[in-house]
Amino acid sequence: MRIRVVYGSSFGDTADAAGRIAATLEEHVGRPVPCHDVAAVDLGSLESVGLLVVGTSTWHSGDLQDDWAVALDGVTARDWTGTNVAPFGLGDQRGYADTFIDALADLARAFEGAGARLVGAWPSAGYEHASSRAERDGMFVGLALDVEHQPDLSQERIERWCCAVLAEVEPLAPVSAPRPGPRAPRGP
Ligand SMILES: Cc1cc2nc3c(=O)[nH]c(=O)nc-3n(C[C@H](O)[C@H](O)[C@H](O)COP(=O)(O)O)c2cc1C
Repeated sequence: MRIRVVYGSSFGDTADAAGRIAATLEEHVGRPVPCHDVAAVDLGSLESVGLLVVGTSTWHSGDLQDDWAVALDGVTARDWTGTNVAPFGLGDQRGYADTFIDALADLARAFEGAGARLVGAWPSAGYEHASSRAERDGMFVGLALDVEHQPDLSQERIERWCCAVLAEVEPLAPVSAPRPGPRAPRGP
């Protein structure tokens, strides 16, 4: 299965998280996972990808990051049937407690509305926000990261989320399973 990571980032936080997610996925699948800035990628080249990880920060009290806002018509104009889309979002749960990672909802729904299967829902317990459009029934629609207030939790969250996403899209191929080595000789 081809895997790609695409992000929109205004000041680098989401770009940094996307790079870490790509590196974590690479470790698990044992091959390169390319990571693209949405401002520079041809969305058409991503249509045949099996697992597409998409990341956005939230700006202007609940809006998509600017580069995703520009690219959104290109997302909804395409048919993503057959693509698993795993969304992640960066936000500020204290400074913007009422619109925490709202953009994650918009990005996820754009892909879902165009045929994608969403994967990677993430528990909303452990965050201090008041409300989020990306949350329903105790789950965010994807991974939530807050590098302002919970920077120390990001790496562990990324690792757990990547394992869960891979298990969801490749349920018969356990992640991090050791490669079978030569069989030990049987004893008497
Ligand atoms: C003016 C401004 C508006 C913001 N609005 C929101 C918001 O509505 N919801 C939220 O969760 N975070 C909000 N944030 C926080 C950013 O999403 C956060 O800093 C993020 O890490 C930025 O990532 P980026 O550098 O990849 O764009 C806002 C930040 C600023 C400076």
